[in-house]
Amino acid sequence: MAKNLFRKTVLITGASSGIGRSTAFEFARTAPNDLKLVLTARRVDRLHQISEDIKKEIGEGVRVCVKQLDVSKPEEVKGLVEDLPEEFRDIDILVNNAGFMSGVEQAPGIPQEVMNDVWATNVIGVINMTQAILALFKKREDGGRGDIIMLGSIAGREPYVGGSVYCSSKAAIRAFTDALRKELINTRIRVMSVDPGQVYTEFNLIRYRGDQSKVDALYAGCDPLTPDDVAEVIVFATSRRENVVVADTLLFPSHQASATHIHRRL
Ligand SMILES: NC(=O)c1ccc[n+]([C@@H]2O[C@H](COP(=O)([O-])OP(=O)(O)OC[C@H]3O[C@@H](n4cnc5c(N)ncnc54)[C@H](OP(=O)(O)O)[C@@H]3O)[C@@H](O)[C@H]2O)c1
Repeated sequence: MAKNLFRKTVLITGASSGIGRSTAFEFARTAPNDLKLVLTARRVDRLHQISEDIKKEIGEGVRVCVKQLDVSKPEEVKGLVEDLPEEFRDIDILVNNAGFMSGVEQAPGIPQEVMNDVWATNVIGVINMTQAILALFKKREDGGRGDIIMLGSIAGREPYVGGSVYCSSKAAIRAFTDALRKELINTRIRVMSVDPGQVYTEFNLIRYRGDQSKVDALYAGCDPLTPDDVAEVIVFATSRRENVVVADTLLFPSHQASATHIHRRL
């Protein structure tokens, strides 16, 4: 795995928590000798801590650049690559991970700001990030080179009650991803989707607006995936030989078989 990641530069959005954070560590552990990581999110203090922790654990073989970025702000995404220190600009792998949901309201009671923020982040943010990095990928030989990982979700395949805004945002990205893979067929650019089911991160604490009792009820009797489980799949996909595209991966914990078919050991 390390051979195919040697000298690569990886940019991760939403690297301050959960799957994004784990993905940063997993790349660093898999390719500890010559790797560059660009860690982005809004909470830059957390990114600095992660950068320090990677340095402590891995050493100097992995260089980390911390960059504050709100993907829902097109003006921040637009100048992103040019704003990076020169040695971090030649990005090889983009992990489009930043995403969130707030609330479980159903139409017609969905707050306007939830619709705006979720779509600005999960859909427009992902498309803008992809466009910003694709311009760079397409300058490379053979029509272009580079990897794009999309964090989809079972929610993008199977909409559920109380998830209309989130599920539709992930379904939109699923359609965007499938179209993009077709549009880039004459290049060496790989477009890959990793779609988890239940993962224990801060995602649901944010969804339930800080109410830990609702998070506990959601996971009662369950053994969800860890963010490290998902990170392993992301690093596996991006470290295949160039001609292999792990196009689409659906990942469940063993007690889950669909968005709502979950066995609870209570
Ligand atoms: N947890 C699950 O069960 C699950 C299942 C399937 C798919 N997913 C997807 O996996 C991805 C990662 O989620 P997670 O579970 O790891 O949740 P998490 O622990 O809450 O992490 C979400 C990350 O996204 C970042 N983020 C949110 N809004 C952002 C914005 N506007 N600009 C930049 N960064 C932003 C957050 O960083 P800052 O707040 O510091 O900006 C944070 O680092 C999401 O796309 C989510 O939809 C999660």
